[in-house]
Amino acid sequence: MSDGRKRIAVALDASERSRILELARLVGPEIGVLKVGLEAFCAHGPELVREVAELAPVFLDLKLHDIPNTVGGAAAAAARTGASILNVHAGGGLEMMRAAGERAREAAAAAGLPVPRVIAVTVLTSLDAPALSAVGLAGSPREAALRLALLARQAGLDGVVCSPEEIETIRSACGPEFLLVVPGIRPAGSAAGDQKRIATPGAAARAGADLLVIGRPITGAPDPAAAARAIAAEIGSA
Ligand code: C5P
Repeated sequence: MSDGRKRIAVALDASERSRILELARLVGPEIGVLKVGLEAFCAHGPELVREVAELAPVFLDLKLHDIPNTVGGAAAAAARTGASILNVHAGGGLEMMRAAGERAREAAAAAGLPVPRVIAVTVLTSLDAPALSAVGLAGSPREAALRLALLARQAGLDGVVCSPEEIETIRSACGPEFLLVVPGIRPAGSAAGDQKRIATPGAAARAGADLLVIGRPITGAPDPAAAARAIAAEIGSA
């Protein structure tokens, strides 16, 4: 599989089980990671994650955010599904992130599963500067994302989810091993939808994103596999 393909995580954002699995079968051979998010998980739970994980490595995108003990327990349960990547909200704080990382690693090891990478969401790509200040977060989205990425690294997590606009800042502060997972990807000419801080696949790849999270531009295309191949080619030549 080409490098461009490996760097795509397709967001399986749908609620019907048959549609989720259809999409997973269509795009699974074309990409590196399948992302199961809140919509699919709330509807179908861990069983669905196990089924999708048979088709490609799974990023279980639950964005956990609660007290450390609760998130630790949830991260352990999430790790037992066999997901390869799990996440929490960095806004839950240092101790919460530490608990998530430690409990996920312990649970995977105890179950004989590969240790998942645990990452933190910095600032949602659907939030712009006015939306951020409305919730009381100081500074620009870039400053807030950097502050939260440094906290995630201090907590021992493997990386963060950030917008295309923060890739270079976070990469230079957190180093080459820190996993940067980047949603808000829109090929030239496609609709932004609710995403505010966006970039094309080529631009995000050139900036240094490790994994590009792409939903609607692939899942909403008439031929999702062809859309994934076109994006992989753009990433590969970036
Ligand atoms: O359809 P679209 O390409 O906008 O999908 C982006 C995916 O990335 C969604 O599943 C969304 O939940 C997820 N995501 C995001 N912003 C973040 C973290 C995850 O858009 N900060």
